[in-house]
Amino acid sequence: MPHVISAAIIGISAEPITVETDVSQGMGCFNVVGLPDTGVKEARERIKSAIRNSNFEFPRHRVIVNLAPADIRKQGPMYDVPIAVSLLAARGFVRADILTTTVMIGELALDGSLRPVNGVLTAALMAAKRGYKAIVVPADNAQEAAVVPNLVVLAAASLRQIVSHLDGIENIVPTITDETIAERTFPIDFCDIKGQMHAKRGLEIAAAGAHNVLLKGPPGTGKTLLARAIPSILPPLTREESLEATSIASVAGVLSRGEGLINVRPFRSPHHSCSAVSLVGGGAWPRPGEVSLAHRGVLFLDELPEFSRHVLEHLRQPLEDGEVTVSRAAATLRFPSRFLLLAAMNPCPCGFATDPRRPCVCSAKSISLYRKRISGPLLDRFDLVIEVPNLDTATLVSDIPAEASSEIRARVETARRLQSDRFAGTALFTNSEIPTSRIKDWCRADEGGKKLLEQALNAQALSPRGYGRVLKVARTIADLAGEEAIRDVHIAEALQYRLSEK
Ligand SMILES: Nc1ncnc2c1ncn2[C@@H]1O[C@H](COP(=O)(O)OP(=O)(O)OP(=O)(O)O)[C@@H](O)[C@H]1O
Ligand SMILES: [Mg+2]
Ligand SMILES: [Zn+2]
Repeated sequence: MPHVISAAIIGISAEPITVETDVSQGMGCFNVVGLPDTGVKEARERIKSAIRNSNFEFPRHRVIVNLAPADIRKQGPMYDVPIAVSLLAARGFVRADILTTTVMIGELALDGSLRPVNGVLTAALMAAKRGYKAIVVPADNAQEAAVVPNLVVLAAASLRQIVSHLDGIENIVPTITDETIAERTFPIDFCDIKGQMHAKRGLEIAAAGAHNVLLKGPPGTGKTLLARAIPSILPPLTREESLEATSIASVAGVLSRGEGLINVRPFRSPHHSCSAVSLVGGGAWPRPGEVSLAHRGVLFLDELPEFSRHVLEHLRQPLEDGEVTVSRAAATLRFPSRFLLLAAMNPCPCGFATDPRRPCVCSAKSISLYRKRISGPLLDRFDLVIEVPNLDTATLVSDIPAEASSEIRARVETARRLQSDRFAGTALFTNSEIPTSRIKDWCRADEGGKKLLEQALNAQALSPRGYGRVLKVARTIADLAGEEAIRDVHIAEALQYRLSEK
């Protein structure tokens, strides 16, 4: 019996699946074993029509398709193509010899053409790792699969084309990855944002060490604008990071059609009405949430107090562990979620509590309720709190161009290089990830720095977590200055961004 190889997506990795079809005498029926009940009915209808509309006869006999192993949960319409090919092979329409070295995935339309599916990059990585020679994918997914080395990617437009290829009638030309790395472009450049030197410096530090940031200030001062500009000062993705980010986007189905590797760090800004599942992932068929789509990039929560407190509490695990774990009967899935958390808020419901030019009209009670919407433990996770005040008129009307993002990014990249040297041989990438137990090794302050920190601790009652965070931010500030020792000036600057803790 000919076997067709396909793939099951589990979290962001994949396992091989074998599809076998038995056609025997008996009453006409078409059963698929090993797929979840919900998807089977539709799959059967699509496969039947696609086979007929590709000018093959659909057998009138008893057809049993088995997807093995049975204990791996298989999801989605990606098994249409392997099931259809296996059925045609069982009837002798397809030469079976190359089936054992080729992985196949794809959804069928009723007319026999192929539709794109999710998780193609993940399946292609598995295929290469397991030594398969080729993968057949829908044409719209070909660039995504083609980034995987040592694997022949066959982009198919229709079932008929796959059969012609397998029979050696007309070979599909393998897809070659589009090597020209697209120029990174950004919607907002820092040179378009006037003034706000303090906020820009804070974002530079955040970008350099991947520290979490809270932007606070009255309405219209440019908080959203500054946040949206941050991707332009982040370092480019390494190939490894790019593969991770693209795998997650592929599994979640948010990769654009025809897109290969993602080359710009993700910037995700979910709306404040989003649910816990869309934020952190999960569901009956677990899908990555916003925190994983933001992996190696930025998660931006604009209007932070508008988010439900219950939803925000779900951020604590991914922030702490750098991954989301979803437990299901069959297995525990892990979705990576290492992101820079960036949030913006007004100081009070009317927004003008910290604005010297306009009176705040909120009652003390409404301000206190507003601030309570964000829990202390979550607030504690922001390494930098940046006040974004109103611009003075002179700065606003000035034509003097501000520093361009590319110049800031160059400093960020230098600081990141120091970090990759520091963390060589560990799983860490940035200063923000330094575990508490290693702060004493990597964030050692000199005598002056220690003294200042002690004074600040006595005067300000920093929480223990706040203390560690100041040291990590100071580490990044020293890195930006190209200095090994953390000195008092670095500690002083880091402390500025925690002053509003009181
Ligand atoms: N520093 C600046 N340089 C240039 N334009 C600015 C600056 N600050 C604000 N603006 C302009 O003001 C608009 C409003 O800014 P933005 O939406 O970022 O404010 P905000 O702080 O997010 O306000 P809110 O608290 O109401 O959300 C921007 O779209 C931009 O056109
Ligand atoms: Mg805003
Ligand atoms: Zn107010």
